[in-house]
Amino acid sequence: MIRRLARCLREYKWTALVSPLAMIGEVAMEVTIPLVMAQLYDQGIAAGNMTIVVQKAMVLVLCAVVSLIFGVLSATYASKAATGFARNLRHDMYYRVQDFSFANIDKFSSASIVTRLTSDVANLQMAFQMSIRLAIRCPMMLILAMISSLRISPRLTTVYLVAIPLLAATLVCIVPFVFRIFDRVFQTYDRLNNVVQENVHGVRVVKSFVREDKEVDKFAGVSQAIYRDFCKAEHILALSNPAMQFCVYGCTLAISWIGAHLVVASGNNGALGLTTGELSSMFTYTTQIFMALMMLSMVFVMMIMARAPMRRCYELLVEEPSLVSPENPVREVKDGSIDFENVSFRYSAKAKHRALKEVDLHIPSGATVGILGSTGSSKTTLVQLIPRLYDATEGTVKVGGVDVKDYDLEVLRDNVAMVLQKNTLFSGTIKENLRWGNPNATDEELVHACRLACADDFIRSFPGGYDTHIEQGGSNVSGGQKQRLCIARALLKKPKILILDDSTSAVDTHTDSLIRKAFREEIPGTTKLIIAQRISSIQDADIILVMENGKVACVGDHETLMRESDFYRGIYESQQKGSER
Ligand SMILES: Nc1ncnc2c1ncn2[C@@H]1O[C@H](COP(=O)(O)OP(=O)(O)O)[C@@H](O)[C@H]1O
Ligand SMILES: [Mg+2]
Repeated sequence: MIRRLARCLREYKWTALVSPLAMIGEVAMEVTIPLVMAQLYDQGIAAGNMTIVVQKAMVLVLCAVVSLIFGVLSATYASKAATGFARNLRHDMYYRVQDFSFANIDKFSSASIVTRLTSDVANLQMAFQMSIRLAIRCPMMLILAMISSLRISPRLTTVYLVAIPLLAATLVCIVPFVFRIFDRVFQTYDRLNNVVQENVHGVRVVKSFVREDKEVDKFAGVSQAIYRDFCKAEHILALSNPAMQFCVYGCTLAISWIGAHLVVASGNNGALGLTTGELSSMFTYTTQIFMALMMLSMVFVMMIMARAPMRRCYELLVEEPSLVSPENPVREVKDGSIDFENVSFRYSAKAKHRALKEVDLHIPSGATVGILGSTGSSKTTLVQLIPRLYDATEGTVKVGGVDVKDYDLEVLRDNVAMVLQKNTLFSGTIKENLRWGNPNATDEELVHACRLACADDFIRSFPGGYDTHIEQGGSNVSGGQKQRLCIARALLKKPKILILDDSTSAVDTHTDSLIRKAFREEIPGTTKLIIAQRISSIQDADIILVMENGKVACVGDHETLMRESDFYRGIYESQQKGSER
């Protein structure tokens, strides 16, 4: 996992190395300073030698300046490396998400993908920046300060040998608790993002149903859960501070006691053991050693905390797109015929029910097919298999006589244009939106496609015409206008198969029939699959499929179905009554 993530360092490899190297310089200076201080005191002040005092003071200033320079270098390079790493990581992840199939996106949920790309990466960046500095600083400090104090007095150093394991043991007890809590916090963040995203995305629906209070409650619940978990983690972490204080003061006391005896016994000339200057430098080392230990434990906690975002980023990076083009793909779709051979489908391996059950179908090229069925009867599921938005679990789906899995994905999807039930326009002009269908389309082609979709008239009625700006999500056009723009966008691909998933539901019946007439006359060779709620939208289709519970309940043209299917006749009669009234 770490190896894969480290690959995101790329051009920042060397930058990342400078930081710990500079850190070594900084630590070396910090450990030297107490030694020089001891000499200044013992050889200068205590001996009354002013020359030495000045000399040592200059060395001290030099040490401080060098330490400062190294410190700044280390910090600058660490932040440079960390931001670069985060940028590369985010880039890699985003790139991978673009290859995701619908099934991959279902697996993560789009909210989770957003959290991973934003806060998880930010957390990793911070952890990385801190750890490349501290991961070197702390052990270095610990070792160098230990060596220095050993050189001063091996006897006093034994005090540490008691205290350090004590603190280490406390930290080892605390850390696993904290880890478990933080792991949970990150999952709750996903939920928080989910709530926010859903609410902001559907803010118009929330308002029209006056659901603001409920939504606020939902948000407050998740937000409170995060607050609680963080508090709990911080409470436990707070225990480490008194433990550290206890060790520092305990050591200081012990060193004072033993050290004072040694200083007095040696008559303060160092012949037998310890000078006053050396004793005071031991105090500085005590603080340094425990600070280092403390920070080391922080690095530990941070690395453990970073494990969750690390795993989450890694999961996204290594997720294999579930749909890829085969090795030697077929690059041409012969015609618009469609075959379903004993096709069954499950949305995921865990799903209890099959969304499609043993579907057998043959649709000749150029036919107009109407698909009818109650909501949840798997109409959308059925047609999604044709442009290979999902792969069939069992059986084969063929387009133009070839298994869809054998086609180059891009070729297949260019030839099978699908207007999704939940269609979207993007911010930009109408022209730009239409050219999603075909970037090279001429203005005439745009107008032609819009005529077919009965969109030309209303586009011209806008002051900006085809250059009218569409807001994000198409919020400044009506539902029916949006649907017609989406149909025009699909038509621009000049597909062999055109699928309209309930795409004229917001269009009035007259316009709806005009669109169908245009299809019949202008693109007779294209196979048209039309999912609709209104029988009038599909009455004149060559083949009508009635879906029920993931199965094709009956197939035939209008007359046949009127004769043979009670279900169909039932819908027809109820809709007729509705329109007579
Ligand atoms: N992305 C999905 N993940 C899991 N189950 C899904 C998904 N989309 C649809 N389903 C389920 O599949 C069934 C058929 O849905 P769908 O094809 O959308 O019905 P229809 O288009 O006829 O209204 C429903 O039971 C629905 O809950
Ligand atoms: Mg549907």
